Amino acid sequence: MPPKPIFPGSFDPITLGHVATVRLASRVFGGLTIVVAQNLEKNSLFTFEQRMDMTASAVKDIAGVSIDSFSGLLSDYIAQNGVGVVIRGVRNSMDFEYETQMSRLNAGLTGAVTLFFPSDPRYSHISSTMARQVAVLGGDVSGLVPSKIAGKLKMIINEQL
Ligand code: COA
Repeated sequence: MPPKPIFPGSFDPITLGHVATVRLASRVFGGLTIVVAQNLEKNSLFTFEQRMDMTASAVKDIAGVSIDSFSGLLSDYIAQNGVGVVIRGVRNSMDFEYETQMSRLNAGLTGAVTLFFPSDPRYSHISSTMARQVAVLGGDVSGLVPSKIAGKLKMIINEQL
């Protein structure tokens, strides 16, 4: 039985692209754990609690998916939890270059293998940055984030403005 994989990310916010990767990977592995980074190197628009909450809502109908979090280095989480497989979605060659570097770092530190899932072509132009910008400028985010969280995302942003 292969170890249950993890799908780590900032999820600031979770997008339709992330959810497609979760669906695909959990179908292949019979489930996975989404691991939300608490402290980000980049400035986040949403708090850790908001990112956890939106991520959980977005995937609650996908069988076998659980949510966890980590702070600090991902490799420490991998080592502490005996993770064997890390999943990452790859949209284009830039993602591939970056993710290859990260996978080598994590493999060197922990022995964990990273598997790349090609992004769903319907969503390969989407990023969390794009979803944030559209939401902040009052646009329609329904083609960018799951419908379950679109309302919540706009509400949080309206409260911040
Ligand atoms: N389809 C569409 N878009 C996708 C996608 C997919 N399948 N997969 C990722 N993306 C996009 C996201 O929307 C996001 O867009 P953005 O750049 O505009 O924010 C981007 O790709 C990546 O975001 P995300 O998937 O949420 O992860 P991340 O790259 O922000 O974070 C961590 C990944 C958490 C694993 C990484 O930052 C990390 O390990 N941090 C901890 C510190 C650490 O260990 N560092 C090691 C180096 S020293």
